[in-house]
Amino acid sequence: MAKYNFDIKTNRENSSCVKYDLRKEIFGNADVIPMWVADMDIQTPDFIFEAIRNRCNHPFLGYTFRDESYNSAILEWYKRRHNWNIQSNWIEFCPGVVSGLNHVIRAFTKPGDKIIIQPPVYHPFFSTVENNGRVLVNNPLIERNGNYSMNFVELEQLADQGASMLILSNPHNPVGRVWNLEELTQLGNICVKHNVLVIADEIHCDLVYKPYKHIPLASINSNFAKNTITFSSASKTFNIAGLASGFVIISNPDMMKKYKHELEASGAGMGNIFGNEAVKAAFSKEGESWLNELLQYFEANIAFVESTLKQYLPKLKFTRPQGTYLMWLDFREFEMDDEALNNKLINEAGLGLNAGNGFGIEGSGFQRMNIACPRPVVQVALNKLIESFKDC
Ligand SMILES: Cc1ncc(COP(=O)(O)O)c(C=O)c1O
Repeated sequence: MAKYNFDIKTNRENSSCVKYDLRKEIFGNADVIPMWVADMDIQTPDFIFEAIRNRCNHPFLGYTFRDESYNSAILEWYKRRHNWNIQSNWIEFCPGVVSGLNHVIRAFTKPGDKIIIQPPVYHPFFSTVENNGRVLVNNPLIERNGNYSMNFVELEQLADQGASMLILSNPHNPVGRVWNLEELTQLGNICVKHNVLVIADEIHCDLVYKPYKHIPLASINSNFAKNTITFSSASKTFNIAGLASGFVIISNPDMMKKYKHELEASGAGMGNIFGNEAVKAAFSKEGESWLNELLQYFEANIAFVESTLKQYLPKLKFTRPQGTYLMWLDFREFEMDDEALNNKLINEAGLGLNAGNGFGIEGSGFQRMNIACPRPVVQVALNKLIESFKDC
């Protein structure tokens, strides 16, 4: 019997919530059903609040450090969930994965250096590279009938032409691929051979559906471990992004030293007390059983999207994600330009999704829909979508 009830719909308005309270600014319409930013409408679990409340019983909130219990929560979690034996001194804090990306770009590359990304991909990959004066090099994914793969032939050429870094999204946002051992091995080998440092953004690693399995790139072999910086966080999985507490895993001691130096130089290394407590509570036995149920709930949401679209809106193509709670919807058969598509979705269907071209031009004609919400919300959203597009 299910222990947790994910069907509860909670009002998040007027809580300075980016997903709800910025709808007018983002969509020009404050009434859209928000299914955009990767933030769940599933309540942050009680055991996390309990840990934070417990910490509040202590009468001081002074300077704090992350003690061994913080590191062991992370390493035990990785051992159990991802079969990766990491060591305590491989773990360091980052305020968030995006700030971490900025830090490593500054610490490990120089202005003008080339950095490879694989669009369509999470939009801050573009901005972190460009904001730091580095040169973006695109190695677009290949799409065939809704299935995405990497273009290794082109990757090898680009690496050979002298790139310093590659930023990997695994599982991939927005296309939902969980890269398999063969793919990761090919990518890792190319990068080691050409001396391209890999930044593995694995923030969605705990949101993977059976039979797929997340494989941390750095866990594959010692050469990859030496050449990889892995970022992750409990924030997506347990809905705690507002606590700004991610982490990085670096087994190469020289690289760890460089990372720490950059973190210190930016003054962002302390983190916050509540983030520390939340991470420990999340990466626990209770966190694990909560997550197992959550994944089943999302699988059912995804199956519901799939069967509903197949039956009522077959022109809208959709391939089940292997990981993430982000659906990558293919509207190309409707033959609308991106502006008209956005306009129809926002102002006619009343839906606030992420426009696909925000993930690179390869995403043109697509939209990303976040289904990390109670099923009744998905149902209402799909009804609106069908109503609006059925005669197109
Ligand atoms: C691939 C990916 N990386 C990073 C982030 C953001 O992480 P953070 O909030 O820790 O900066 C997201 C959030 O959607 C994401 O999808």
